Amino acid sequence: MIEIAIDGTAASGKGTLGKKLSEKYSFPYLDTGMLYRKVAYELIKSNKINTEKLEQTCCDFGTIVTFKELKNKNLRTEDVTKLASKIATFPNLRKILNNKQKKFNNLSKKKYGGCILDGRDIGTTILPNADFKFFITASLEVRAKRRLLEKNISFLHENDEKCMLQNLMNNMRERDNQDSKRKISPLVPAKDAHIIDTTIINPEELLLIVTNIIENNMSC
Ligand code: CDP
Repeated sequence: MIEIAIDGTAASGKGTLGKKLSEKYSFPYLDTGMLYRKVAYELIKSNKINTEKLEQTCCDFGTIVTFKELKNKNLRTEDVTKLASKIATFPNLRKILNNKQKKFNNLSKKKYGGCILDGRDIGTTILPNADFKFFITASLEVRAKRRLLEKNISFLHENDEKCMLQNLMNNMRERDNQDSKRKISPLVPAKDAHIIDTTIINPEELLLIVTNIIENNMSC
């Protein structure tokens, strides 16, 4: 049974890698960030961002979140993204969502022989004994440009595009900082992770690098 843990900075290519590996090896894939995004989204939707019992409210939403609800375009807005990083600092929420991720992993391994998880603390906290750990990163500018492309906006003026790119860079820098500096489960590479910088490599090249590592180590 194979566990593959992928961690890394925002828009570094870890999600695309997770999906491609899932297609290649037919193991279920979970983008764990979507769980934090879903809780953030529900907070915004129910107008509870300023509640005094913010952590408890997050835990209530976290308890009822199901994997089926994670394919929603509304989970990828900038407001949800920012709030997801803020609430991801809550230890009690992390406990609830960690359990869900571990259950997903156990069920997937039993049923399909393997599992792929991507996030911030997969190799360090969720799957510390994963067979393969990858930590994916890239320069801030390249990552922000990728996010801009994902948004699929056609700009009328070059200045608007520049301004949006700058905003994305600022938000991403702030979020990476928050994710790396928090006390509980910070974004850091696991000691035994393969660290890969995707600044000048495309998703196909990344897949090739990763599958070579996996396949060269699976035969022994
Ligand atoms: O897609 P992107 O890399 O921009 O973000 P994401 O993976 O959807 O994660 C959104 C936020 O959730 C991150 O900024 C983290 O604060 C948090 N997160 C986390 O703390 N632990 C995880 N395992 C996954 C996400």
